Amino acid sequence: SEVYLNGKWLKHDEAFVSVFDRAFMFGDGIYEVTPFYSGKPFLLKEHLKRLKYCLDEIQIKFDPFALQETMLEAISRAGLNEADAAVYIQVSRGAATRSHFVPEKIETTVLLYAFPVTLKGFEKKSWEVMATEDKRWHRCDIKSTALLANVMANEEAIAAGFAENLLVRKGYFTEGSHSSLFFVKYGVVHTHPEGQKILSGITRAEVINICTDLNIKVVEKAVHIDELVEVEEIFVTGTTTQIIPISSITHKNKKVYTARKDSVTKKLQEIFIKRTR
Ligand code: PDD
Repeated sequence: SEVYLNGKWLKHDEAFVSVFDRAFMFGDGIYEVTPFYSGKPFLLKEHLKRLKYCLDEIQIKFDPFALQETMLEAISRAGLNEADAAVYIQVSRGAATRSHFVPEKIETTVLLYAFPVTLKGFEKKSWEVMATEDKRWHRCDIKSTALLANVMANEEAIAAGFAENLLVRKGYFTEGSHSSLFFVKYGVVHTHPEGQKILSGITRAEVINICTDLNIKVVEKAVHIDELVEVEEIFVTGTTTQIIPISSITHKNKKVYTARKDSVTKKLQEIFIKRTR
């Protein structure tokens, strides 16, 4: 398959970056994943806006809105015009002799490609997950390619037979290793407030919009692990995850949550899928 690298379309196995690329050496880059349902972009502006915010936060000068045409081209070149897919964009600070100090003359490395995605909301599926301490840095709002803590958390889950790892900071759930996290408690939807402790998920924002439209109350407040006894439903959201219900949570080898209901999650899945069609 083809990838777009620094202005050229190349076969993926013929596309190369410098060994001195700062995304390779330092994780010094930003990425974004934008869904395309039935070949059409979903919440494109929101995704590009977040990418711009992240690039600005780490002072990489690049306008992601200039990539819109290229994103559409990636979908059609990959033959995904009728399919459910996503476009991965990575903007690295660029290649330079290794030093923490960033030289003034450096050109961004821009990588972009499309890949197929399955609409998981259609599958009658739920995830058994685990929970561990959130080991990430203090700027989780920046969608950095430096994903070591996320990868470690996810690997720990997979090795133990779980689908995802829910991250806990000082007793409070933040989000999943690669998903946003929601709780339903006494019929009210709870999710961690935006800020530096979580990624501002685009799917998260859309789910909040859907709740508002359905007159379901949303409270942007972190849920403590001790509150799980009062929680009826939990689900995770994300571009590649969409909306997936959590059937159980294991924490320190103990099952600390088992799903009690599913009606709010089911309703949100139903409306979400309609909006992607
Ligand atoms: N993950 N939180 C984290 C830590 C993530 O990595 C992701 C997305 C999300 C959900 O964000 P969004 O709804 O904007 O995709 C939250 C990758 C991109 C994914 O699962 O698709």
